Amino acid sequence: MTALPSGASATPTPPATQAVQALLDVYARVGPLFVGGEGAELIAEDGTRYLDFVAGIGVNALGYNHPVIRAAVERALGSGLIHVSNLYRSEAGERLAEELVTRSFADRAFFCNSGAEANEAAFKFARKWSGKSEIVAFSGSFHGRLFATLAATDRPDYRKPFEPLVPGIRIVAREDWADVDHAVSASRTAAVILEPVQGEGGVRPLDAEWLGFVRELCDSRGVAVIFDEVQCGLGRTGTLFAYEQAGVVPDILTLAKPLAGGLPMGAVLVTSAVAAALKPGDHATTFGGGPLVAGVALEVVRTIADPAFLADVRRKAEWLSARLARLAAGAPRVREVRGRGLMWGLELAEPAAPIVAAARERGLLVVTAGPQVIRLLPPLVIAVQELERGVAILEELLA
Ligand SMILES: Cc1ncc(COP(=O)(O)O)c(C=O)c1O
Repeated sequence: MTALPSGASATPTPPATQAVQALLDVYARVGPLFVGGEGAELIAEDGTRYLDFVAGIGVNALGYNHPVIRAAVERALGSGLIHVSNLYRSEAGERLAEELVTRSFADRAFFCNSGAEANEAAFKFARKWSGKSEIVAFSGSFHGRLFATLAATDRPDYRKPFEPLVPGIRIVAREDWADVDHAVSASRTAAVILEPVQGEGGVRPLDAEWLGFVRELCDSRGVAVIFDEVQCGLGRTGTLFAYEQAGVVPDILTLAKPLAGGLPMGAVLVTSAVAAALKPGDHATTFGGGPLVAGVALEVVRTIADPAFLADVRRKAEWLSARLARLAAGAPRVREVRGRGLMWGLELAEPAAPIVAAARERGLLVVTAGPQVIRLLPPLVIAVQELERGVAILEELLA
């Protein structure tokens, strides 16, 4: 019997099809087994390249195999520090916090591991700051799948099986002036939470005037405004933060998806007023802001925040906006085109899933956002020629 190489297991690796069956069946996974990626393309086991307009649902903002991310991962590994407990200091997280607060309205940052965790932390911070408990969210919202975030997420099919949900969290009509005025209470409401551009709810940029009204209402009633920029933040809309375009500044802002270039990381940015309400022991998470993820995130944030990078995103965004308008003009099956930056939704007059599947057959990955919306979230580094290649496929399918 030949000796096994060190680290090898005596059990043979099962073929991929078998391995997939060991995963809990909570995802409807489709398509090929992906084994690599380069730029805006994913590479399947058989070598087929797929143009990726999903980018890990907004995670892979710098695409695949980006040199900045590779270098940051290698640097972190070279230091020997993948994790250091939050009981102690480590440099990358401190520098990342400084980078984020310097570039935003915020004065302090907290790091965690996902978007839902960031929003759960934001709820706790708002409660502690306000001394009140209720949270108001809006129709079409998606804030996560943990218990409090699920209660703030407007998806009955995700909520129903897990009731009773966390009490004190209500969902009111998006962009309805009277409803929000009625729902936000000076004596009970701790925070309102909203996505400046709703993602899962169908790609809907919220009306800037209404956002201004919500801000004023919250100011006058001692209520925190939380912007969930987990999907629309960090360059996705053409500015580093989506709130910059809304013209409304939140008290608390959450980030995740693209923050650490594909490594799991979330962040909560807060004003000094909110920060002052929190003391050691109020919140914690074991892995939050460790040296590996924070070191990568620091480079991702610096890369995206470069004015030349953001100007390039805006240039491509303008091109894409015009191109999608042209597609819609020639395709009556498209009811509406909505979006900002490199985040777009095509609302169809029919279910979107068959188009998503047909696009995949032609080598283009897109994702739905609700039953009738095709969502496009290409990597921010994508080339205009690649955008054209993808839109042309959709145009053919929707003709
Ligand atoms: C706006 C928004 N908030 C929160 C989340 C939850 O993030 P995560 O899946 O990292 O928990 C998502 C995920 O899609 C999101 O789009």
